[in-house]
Amino acid sequence: MADIPKNEARTVKNSQVEMTEVVLPQYANVLGTVFGGQIMSWIDICAAVSAQRHSRCPVVTASFDSVHFIEPIKQGQVVILKGQVNAVFKSSMEVGVIVFAESPLTGERRKAVRAYCTFVALDTFGNPKGIPDLAIDGEEEKRRFLEATERRRIRLLHRKIEVKHVHKNG
Ligand SMILES: CC(C)(COP(=O)(O)OP(=O)(O)OC[C@H]1O[C@@H](n2cnc3c(N)ncnc32)[C@H](O)[C@@H]1OP(=O)(O)O)[C@@H](O)C(=O)NCCC(=O)NCCS
Repeated sequence: MADIPKNEARTVKNSQVEMTEVVLPQYANVLGTVFGGQIMSWIDICAAVSAQRHSRCPVVTASFDSVHFIEPIKQGQVVILKGQVNAVFKSSMEVGVIVFAESPLTGERRKAVRAYCTFVALDTFGNPKGIPDLAIDGEEEKRRFLEATERRRIRLLHRKIEVKHVHKNG
């Protein structure tokens, strides 16, 4: 597929993903709730598809932060993951994922997890590659974009501290 030109902005809607899973017994811990690591694996997949829908490039997970487990998800429940790109920078983009737990019998849905992940688009040599801009539409998307920009600032500060730490301590 031909590259999307950098100046051809894509909408948030273009990047939206909805995924459905069921908490089977193998995904549950001894308390009968889903393993946190299993949820993170689903979030990673949902977010990667969203990042690819935006960029139409191979992408890698650069960081995975702000994972908030709000409520436990029980065995037998339906898990709905909704992902979308919040902000696009040069080669990286932040994807927000919200996870809902749904009762299969009543249909009641509760927000269970929220996470933000950063993905980097790569060229054919595996180097970071520029991606299309994000066309922001409306107050809600603007708020998400501004919050994502602030999270990026903090994330990159942490990265700088980590790199300094590795250089100092090996
Ligand atoms: C992510 C990766 C491509 C960044 O490569 P790099 O050589 O450090 O690239 P740069 O320093 O030029 O940064 C490229 C972009 O990544 C962003 N980035 C790098 N590390 C980041 C981090 N920890 N968190 C958030 N963004 C990060 C930079 O801000 C930059 O974004 P921008 O182009 O939008 O400004 C590289 O570290 C990598 O390949 N990591 C392993 C990824 C992986 O294996 N993931 C798990 C499996 S998918």
